[in-house]
Amino acid sequence: MEKRELKEITLKSGETLILREPDAEDAEAIIEYLNIIGGETDNLLFGRGELNLTVEQEAEYIKKVRNDPNRLMILGIINGQIVAIAQISCLHGRRVWHNSELAISVRKAFWRKGIGSTLMQELIFFAKNHKLIRNISLGVRASNHTAISLYEKFGFVKTGVHKNYFCINGEYDDEYIMDLYLEK
Ligand SMILES: CC(C)(COP(=O)(O)OP(=O)(O)OC[C@H]1O[C@@H](n2cnc3c(N)ncnc32)[C@H](O)[C@@H]1OP(=O)(O)O)[C@@H](O)C(=O)NCCC(=O)NCCS
Repeated sequence: MEKRELKEITLKSGETLILREPDAEDAEAIIEYLNIIGGETDNLLFGRGELNLTVEQEAEYIKKVRNDPNRLMILGIINGQIVAIAQISCLHGRRVWHNSELAISVRKAFWRKGIGSTLMQELIFFAKNHKLIRNISLGVRASNHTAISLYEKFGFVKTGVHKNYFCINGEYDDEYIMDLYLEK
């Protein structure tokens, strides 16, 4: 499948958001981004300094994703700085590869500007136009009301719970599984 080309969007704040797929040269900036957002929120699978990725490992990963028609990674860029990353990937294996998984994050200083919604639209567009994908799944911390309302806005429904899935600073929290079934 053809990957979508670069896009420029004017946000309601007037800022220009560029959406594009990453290149291997983005590896260092992506690692920096991940380390920053890990410390900005307790709603991700990793905290500050918990990712020990080298630039080479990240560059390899980016190349793999770019060459895989069953995956899409999008960077959101404002003034040359990565402010958001979102990704969708099909599961592996013929019996389950019509299911995909989605992940999204936005830098805290850029929340509530519509960037999360813009990225969700792009990922859902990709899924709807992909020959395999019939379901998008994600896992979200039960107390992450912001993300849950974002997902509900796009039609995701809660389909399950992993009890005490997260342990963050010694506190357990459930994970909700949410799904969007695509009409095809
Ligand atoms: C969740 C996240 C991606 C939302 O990104 P964003 O760019 O702020 O999202 P948007 O500005 O497009 O807002 C989208 C919707 O989210 C919901 N939302 C956003 N901020 C909210 C808030 N403070 N309270 C309640 N709902 C909120 C609303 O439904 C909003 O839609 P609306 O503006 O039409 O009302 C962002 O907060 C984030 O990266 N959080 C940390 C990482 C994370 O939690 N990722 C998800 C892990 S599962």
